[in-house]
Amino acid sequence: SDSEKGVYPYYMLKEIDEQPNVMRKLSKKYLDENGTPVIDEKLLDVMKNSDRIYIVGAGTSYHAGLVGKKQLETLTGIPTEVHVASEFAYEKPIFSKKPFFLFLSQSGETADSRQVLVNVNKDHYPSLTITNVANSTLSRESDFTLLLDAGPEISVASTKAYTAQIALEAILAKALGEHLGDQRAQDFDLKAQLSLVAQGMQTIVDEKDKIDEISQDYFVNATQAFYIGRGIDYTVSLEAALKLKEISYVHSEGFASGELKHGTIALIEDGTPVIGIITQGFTAGLTRSNLMETAARGAKTLTIVRKSLAQDDDTFVIPDVDELLTPLLSVIPAQLLAYYTSLNKGLNVDLPRNLAKSVTVE
Ligand code: G6P
Repeated sequence: SDSEKGVYPYYMLKEIDEQPNVMRKLSKKYLDENGTPVIDEKLLDVMKNSDRIYIVGAGTSYHAGLVGKKQLETLTGIPTEVHVASEFAYEKPIFSKKPFFLFLSQSGETADSRQVLVNVNKDHYPSLTITNVANSTLSRESDFTLLLDAGPEISVASTKAYTAQIALEAILAKALGEHLGDQRAQDFDLKAQLSLVAQGMQTIVDEKDKIDEISQDYFVNATQAFYIGRGIDYTVSLEAALKLKEISYVHSEGFASGELKHGTIALIEDGTPVIGIITQGFTAGLTRSNLMETAARGAKTLTIVRKSLAQDDDTFVIPDVDELLTPLLSVIPAQLLAYYTSLNKGLNVDLPRNLAKSVTVE
């Protein structure tokens, strides 16, 4: 059944492998045969009338929100902010005249996010929850719900919920953009794109042996590792580093690659692995030169690069998809690298120390 490991040694690997299918299911559920989004018109009307979208989430869901901001702003033109749920109460943003709240939560039970929603409801602002769990608290207490239908996610480190949230945010952004008459949203062939994404994910998850080898060569004995990127690739580098640190205990961080020279580069030692994520034509050259700067100081550099930007010596070449969807592919080698590093260190991949799947205290 869905919640059994079967032949897999750990749930995390099973959940990584399920991602192509999760993409296909979302596409089938939320896009009709013509590729038109099937999203509640009432929800789109409410969102259309808002002047700003506030995305709220924790952990991996927060990282999915950072990608959603880019998708929503590109396809709808509505300014979008992303907030860490636990900070919201104390660093309360100044609300626009007509705010709309989008909660992202795999479990729908995270206390920090629930607390924000309690306050949003007190002020009678409209809200949507995107979650994997029907009838969860966040789902019940917000005005609208969109379900990820990714199947139970059991491993503490979130994988398929991240990609499912990003795919569903893209569908929502396209639906809202079309509702607003946005040409880019209308032209965005998300059905075809999600099918390319599913195929691309399959190609990457089939490269497990190579990723296992790289994990042994570069990461198992590393004390620190860095992911770098710009724009949307920077947001993925945050998630990639989180995966590695939470299950392998290698101290890893994601950085905006242009910021390295302002401090971080002092951390680079002989053999420090630095992975560049390069999927946007506009920033590819800059990130490559930042990688070279780290190599000149002893780093072992690796790359995750989309095919049309790839060079001969790139480490992971991921298939080409629309620039708003590249996180769905660039994150996969990082998930697998975290998995194998944890496994090769003999750790319990699914149950890392000090962490819980769902944190129901503030
Ligand atoms: C916990 C988990 C993370 C997760 C976060 C938010 O800290 O360990 O993997 O990203 O909660 O969970 P949620 O269910 O709200 O997405």
